[in-house]
Amino acid sequence: MLDPAIDSLLTQRQQQDVDDLIQWLRIPSVSSDPTAQPHVEAAGRWVADRLRSGGLHVQWIETAGNPLVFAQTPPVPGVPVALVYGHYDVQPAEPLELWETAAFEPDIRNGNIYARGATDDKGQVLTHIQSVLAWLQTGRPLPLQVKFLIEGEEEVGSANLERMLPELADTLACDVVVISDSSQFAPNQPAITYGLRGIATFELTVSGPRQDLHSGSFGGAVLNPGIALCKLIAAAVDDQGRIQFPGFYDDVQPLTDQERQQFADLPHDDVAFATSLGVRALFGETGFTTLERKWARPTFDVNGLTCGHQGAGVKTIIPAVATAKLSCRLVPQQDPDKIAAALEDFFQQHGPAGVQVTVKPDHAAPGMVSGIDSPYMAAAKAALAEAFGCQPVLIREGGSIPIVQKFQAALKADCLLLGWGLNDDNAHSPNEKFALADYHRGIRASAVLWSELGKLQHG
Ligand code: BES
Ligand code: ZN
Repeated sequence: MLDPAIDSLLTQRQQQDVDDLIQWLRIPSVSSDPTAQPHVEAAGRWVADRLRSGGLHVQWIETAGNPLVFAQTPPVPGVPVALVYGHYDVQPAEPLELWETAAFEPDIRNGNIYARGATDDKGQVLTHIQSVLAWLQTGRPLPLQVKFLIEGEEEVGSANLERMLPELADTLACDVVVISDSSQFAPNQPAITYGLRGIATFELTVSGPRQDLHSGSFGGAVLNPGIALCKLIAAAVDDQGRIQFPGFYDDVQPLTDQERQQFADLPHDDVAFATSLGVRALFGETGFTTLERKWARPTFDVNGLTCGHQGAGVKTIIPAVATAKLSCRLVPQQDPDKIAAALEDFFQQHGPAGVQVTVKPDHAAPGMVSGIDSPYMAAAKAALAEAFGCQPVLIREGGSIPIVQKFQAALKADCLLLGWGLNDDNAHSPNEKFALADYHRGIRASAVLWSELGKLQHG
C-alpha cells in the first residue's frame, strides 16, 4: 500500500506532471539528425534541470556524442539500489504531413497526449522522475536509493554509452535496473517484459552506371540498379518467411514447450490484430504463432528504399544507384557481428555482374532475456497490481533497447522492463501518443515500486 501522504500528493501534482511532459515534448531531440543536435542537448538539459530542481544531485556526463544525465538520491543502507534508465532522444517525426497536430507541439485529445516521444520514451521515463520528486516533496526519505541514467542516443544504438560503461560501472552500481520504454500487453492489462530482441542495421548500395542514363538510349543495354537491388532483397526471404543468409538461424534457441504455452495462454486474436494494422492478412515465418514471430524469432526488414526519380511526374532514367536501409531483429544468443558478416556475404555472392554491391553495417545490439523469479520481479508485480488494479502478465517484446544486455553483463544487475505504453501508441510513426491515464498510473506504480523494493534486503 502506498503511503497516503504520497498518494494524495500524486493526485495534487497531476497537472504539474502533465505540464512538465508538455515542456519536454516541445524539444525536437531527434538524435539521428545532425542538425537537431542543439535540441537533443536541450532535451538533456531540460531533464537535468528538472531532476536538480526536484532536489536530486545531478551530474552532466559528456560523451563522444550526446551527454548522459545522471542523478541520484542519497544512499539507504541495507536495501537494494535501483537504477532507472531511459532516453531523452526521439525518432524522426517524418512524414510530417501525416500528423494531425505538429509532432513537437504536444496536443491533448481524448485523454491522450500526442507528440513525438510521448510514449517513446519521454512520457514513460518521466513517470519515475515524477514519483521520486513527489516522494521528496513530502519530506520523507525514499525507502531506497534511486539513480537515474537518461541518455540521448538510444534511438541510434547507444554506442557512446556502451563505450563508457566500464568507467561508469561504479557510478551506476545497482541491484536492479528499472526501464519503462515498452508497452502493456493490452489496454488495462499491465505486463512485465522479460525479453527483448536485438538488432543489426545496414545500408545496402547497388551502383551501376557513372550517372543516371536516358532509359530510351541505354535501356536494355545495362542492368538497372533498382531492379538488381529489388532482386537481392527478394532473394533474402523465401515464401515461408525464412531468411536465407547462411548460418542465420545457427544460434537461434528453440522456444521451450513451456514458453510456447505461456505465449499461447495470452489473449491474442490474429484477425483483430490484422484489422488493427490495416492489413488483409498477416505474414510471417511458417510454423510459428504471431506472438512467437514478434517476440522470439529473428527477422529481416526493409526500412527504406531510395532509387531514381522521386519527384512529381515521369522521368525516364536508369538510375545510377539504388540504396536500401535494412535491419534484422535478433533473438538472444544471435551475435550481431556474425549476422552482419552473413548478410554481407550473401549480398556479395548474389550481386550480379554489371553492378557493384556494398554493405555498410550501422548500429547493432544483441537481444536479452531476464530471470523471472527474482524478488525484484515480485516487487514489480505487486506495484503493477496495485496501480493498475489487476495482476500483470509476463511477456517478451520484439523491440530493442541496445544497452540492456550490456547492463546485465557490466552491472550484474537484474532488469525490470515495466511498460506503461500501449501497442497502438504509434511509436516511431505519425501521431505518436501516450494516454494521460497511463502516465498517471505509471507514476503511481513507480511510487509503489519504490516502497516494495525498499522492503527487500540488500543483495
Ligand atoms: N522503446 C523502444 C524499444 C521497444 C520497442 C521495446 C517496442 C519494446 C517494444 C526503443 O526506444 C527503440 O525504439 N529502440 C530502437 C533501437 C534501435 C534504433 C537501435 C528499436 O527497437 O528500433
Ligand atoms: Zn524508447
